[in-house]
Amino acid sequence: YPKAFIYDLDGIITDTAEYHFLAWQKMAEELGIHIDRTFNERLKGIGRMESLQLILSLDPSASNLSVDEKEQLALKKNEYYLEMIERMGPKDILPGIEELLHANKQHGIRIALGSASKNAKHVLDLLGLTAEFDYIVDASTVKKGKPDPETFTAAADALNVPYSECIGIEDSAAGLEAINSANMFSVAVGDKAHLPNADYLVAATNELKFEEIINQYNQKKA
Ligand code: BG6
Ligand code: MG
Repeated sequence: YPKAFIYDLDGIITDTAEYHFLAWQKMAEELGIHIDRTFNERLKGIGRMESLQLILSLDPSASNLSVDEKEQLALKKNEYYLEMIERMGPKDILPGIEELLHANKQHGIRIALGSASKNAKHVLDLLGLTAEFDYIVDASTVKKGKPDPETFTAAADALNVPYSECIGIEDSAAGLEAINSANMFSVAVGDKAHLPNADYLVAATNELKFEEIINQYNQKKA
């Protein structure tokens, strides 16, 4: 068995990836910038200011915004986001995740969070999952965000586990790249077009079955 599972938060443990998109979209529309779900794939997994920068790069007239104006925009997006997740609770944990966490516990496998979000702890609290995690990496922990491997290696280092014995789970291209470059076994949730390089790809979280993930992990090792 591997020694640790490192979970992405937004889009894996709960569907906050959707709320991040809707909040960015609302903020962008107010500037006359249109973003769609295809563009959003590039926003998944990357930090708040990096996301804003990508959105603003769609509009040449946004290039002269000051640092202060950009911070206001990011703050506004976060307010929309926090409003949208206000009523979230344990019922919003995505299908298959609780079973997977439970299987990890049963097999003595450590559990970590590897998130790019400043809201990660708040979201875990809303879901009632904070106590399940042995270690939490969020936006405040790392210097280099995804696709840099630091989010995942920092979790493994804190748990004192070799990278080759970790499994990372992601829904974003940036996060998948981070797991792969950390030399961990990568499990991706989504479609092949956006996530071409996963060691193991499933379409949705309800397909994340512990025994099958372990099979795939051991096959790669062999
Ligand atoms: C990542 C999400 O987990 O966190 C991104 O995939 C999001 O969509 C990023 O922008 C930063 O989140 P926050 O909560 O710090 O704005
Ligand atoms: Mg994600």
